[in-house]
Amino acid sequence: MLKDKIVGALNLQVKLEAQSSQFYLSMASWAESEGLNGTAEFLFRHSDEERQHMLKLVRFINERGGQAVIPALSAPKRKFVGLHEVFENLLSHETSVTESINKVVDLCLNLKDYTTHHFMQWYVAEQIEEEALARTILDKLNMIGSDSAGLYLFDRDLGSLMPSKGVV
Ligand code: FEO
Repeated sequence: MLKDKIVGALNLQVKLEAQSSQFYLSMASWAESEGLNGTAEFLFRHSDEERQHMLKLVRFINERGGQAVIPALSAPKRKFVGLHEVFENLLSHETSVTESINKVVDLCLNLKDYTTHHFMQWYVAEQIEEEALARTILDKLNMIGSDSAGLYLFDRDLGSLMPSKGVV
């Protein structure tokens, strides 16, 4: 049986993962409307992955005797100046997700909840991958600058990349 404080912290994480999914869905929609189809595919997949992260938490909370709360969400940002802003936003969002996961892990240790601590290790590893990929993408964008041929190839390659695996 989960302690109330742990249920509260996990439900906050449910909300954050749901917000991530909505945010990346909004980015994907912007990219598709701009004709950046590879980027859009990558972000649609990323949005789906975030929903899976949320569901994994929901199922864990309920299986362990708590109640997962499905939260209301505010409308995500929908206009972006360009790809650089999209991926700056993505990295900054992922950094805040990592901070939140670290707080849950910290609480698990303080309350000696080693089962939830073990469960959260999957998220810790996932965040390392996601942050590294977002940084790699930003490095590539910085290299390309405003070169249109480079941006074309970047967009095309991103279309076949999985959000939590591999590098561009
Ligand atoms: Fe589920 Fe990208 O954090």
